[in-house]
Amino acid sequence: MLRIKEVGSNIIFHLSNNCVSYIIEVIDGHFVVKRYLGIKIPYFKGSNELDKGHHAFSVYSGNDEFSATNLPLEYSFSQNGDYRITGCSILNKKRMPLLFPNYIGFNQDKNIPTLPHIRASQGTFLNLIFEDQNTHLRITLHYCLLDNSPSIVRWVSFNNKGKSIVHLCKAASLELNLSNSDWSYLTFHGTHANEFVPSFCRINDGIQGIVSTRGASSPQYQPFMALVDKNFNLTSGRFIACHLIWSGDFKFNIEKDQYDSISLIAGINNENFDYILNPDQKFTTPQVLVVFNDGGLANLSKNFQQIYSKYLIQNRITDPLITLNTWEMSYFKVNEEVCLKAIKNAKKVNANLLVVDDGWFVNRNSEKGQLGDWKVDREKFPNGLRKVSDLAHKNKIKFGLWVEPEMGTVSSQLFKKHNDWILGLNKKSPLLLSRNQLVLDLSKLEVQKYLIRILSTLIKENKLDYLKWDFNRQLAPVFSQNINSQRQGEVSYRYVIGLYHILQELRKEFPKLIIENCASGGGRLDPGMLFYTDQTWVSDLTDAVARFRIISNLATLYPLEVFSSHLSKSPNDQDGRLLSLETRLTLSMMGSFGIEMDINSLSEADIQKVKKCVECFKEHFEILHNGYCLPLTPLRKNIEKPISVLLGNQKKNIIWVVYSYGITSAVHVPKYLPLRYLDKGEYKLNGIKYSSEELNCAGITVKPVIGDFKVHTWYLKRI
Ligand code: DGJ
Repeated sequence: MLRIKEVGSNIIFHLSNNCVSYIIEVIDGHFVVKRYLGIKIPYFKGSNELDKGHHAFSVYSGNDEFSATNLPLEYSFSQNGDYRITGCSILNKKRMPLLFPNYIGFNQDKNIPTLPHIRASQGTFLNLIFEDQNTHLRITLHYCLLDNSPSIVRWVSFNNKGKSIVHLCKAASLELNLSNSDWSYLTFHGTHANEFVPSFCRINDGIQGIVSTRGASSPQYQPFMALVDKNFNLTSGRFIACHLIWSGDFKFNIEKDQYDSISLIAGINNENFDYILNPDQKFTTPQVLVVFNDGGLANLSKNFQQIYSKYLIQNRITDPLITLNTWEMSYFKVNEEVCLKAIKNAKKVNANLLVVDDGWFVNRNSEKGQLGDWKVDREKFPNGLRKVSDLAHKNKIKFGLWVEPEMGTVSSQLFKKHNDWILGLNKKSPLLLSRNQLVLDLSKLEVQKYLIRILSTLIKENKLDYLKWDFNRQLAPVFSQNINSQRQGEVSYRYVIGLYHILQELRKEFPKLIIENCASGGGRLDPGMLFYTDQTWVSDLTDAVARFRIISNLATLYPLEVFSSHLSKSPNDQDGRLLSLETRLTLSMMGSFGIEMDINSLSEADIQKVKKCVECFKEHFEILHNGYCLPLTPLRKNIEKPISVLLGNQKKNIIWVVYSYGITSAVHVPKYLPLRYLDKGEYKLNGIKYSSEELNCAGITVKPVIGDFKVHTWYLKRI
């Protein structure tokens, strides 16, 4: 619902739903300020007066009562006297800054961006429109308050209505100014094979934040930042959590200024960014989802999981999909024989998707091999991939393939033919390799078309049901041979737009195709990629306990359906950890279950255990794949301490509690685990009936165990 009130020369916009209010005031036709965000208030009279008057060193124009730097602005322009970090920096053709565009009106149109977005058809939409008198650049601040949710989606668009170019040097999606500083902030960082490590920091005086200059959202930082109050814990504490729906470079900054106010800016990274907007051209920033609520980590998780399940991910995996992937089974030694055996194995345990991973194409016997040509290796597959695909289909097993389409190597025919398609290639500087490979210039339309063609052919010729889309290096340098020197500041943005275009076209042509998002594991796990893809390979670390830490932290933002979890060998190939088959199986059932090992190495009895587990996953698919996942322990940086989650689904009466003990103790005393989130009612556990109140508050008994990294699961049935 939107209420609008005019007060003198000011206008107040009060957006509200059944739980929250978000109130904006446009003052004197140019300052746009936030008056309130939080639990719903019935009407707004302005009890929280704005700071009028001019403090030392503040800048004002004409008769303004206000100084930009003292206002909780919704969007602010650098060099206009707002000395804090600002959301935007725009120069005209003579490089004069744009300062204060004038408010020219509003509308409530549902402007659906072409970039990945929250697919909300309902909600309260508001577009505040401003125009700069000199350049005639039109700037629209877009808002969509979701129904029944403490969440607002924000983004900004720029429309050049003038006759000359303008330079967008910074164009953030979100600016959030808050007048008190009683906050810390939560981010997630990491690296390959150690993704999604939480970090809580207090806000210091000055500027701090996170940035990706890697051309991808990256495992190094998630495009996410949450302000959390000092009482924030598992189930209590306020938060304002911001997640950028974008897969490329980004920046989140927070500043605490001299008046103890907080500014948070989130959007695409402005370093090396200079987007030249031609007359009549439009630029739209990615969206930011802002969830503001209390109820601590549990509510943060619940809100994000619900929103992404409902409004972002397309839920194409409607039936249980149990993958058998060749990677850790045979690495680059994959061939027809391996695949035919894998089909037999899939049948033994009732898996229903065979994925041929890296190594199936010519000249690819190691990481040093070729990328870019995508021709099947006839020595490994004398009958082509189609034979494997047909046999899989005949056995009612789906067929999938690994690709890394954005890459090429010097050894490829592609490089020889089209070295102008390589990003960053320049005769005068060295080739920067990573995993021996180079990145294609996806900002170039011809490259996009080529990849769409190549991929469509592969999908059609081999009757693919599934594609694993890998991305094993990041961008450097971000220089396009195909764009003139003034426009190099657009390349990083255009690269991501190119990637989205390819995915969008494939989606159109193959609406049922399942796409797994992979970038050496979770190297590009972000809401932008999830808009197009169905599941994500969360980490190359297939150690089940280590991956459980990653998944339980990822559940802060993403629903279970996103995560691929595969059974792998013991000792584990990456860290050598020994884990029992039971532990590995239990922890592979969260999300999308798969197998990444040759099950022929197991005894017949163990193969039966795998089969039983597949059946169990199928039976509880609505919980293990489509359910919610709530934290019973705090976010963890490592696996030494216990990690536990509660899994359930509103439509089902079963609750799973998964508990990883971490490093064991010689002090053998029991611990108690309050289940916290059970809906009111009675639950049966090990044949005994308990009230939800008892289980939620007194908790269940966690008996001591001998040995490190043990895992236990409890099943509760609601009566
Ligand atoms: C990285 C992925 O994360 C792995 O699962 C595997 O597909 C390799 N790439 C193949 O090169």
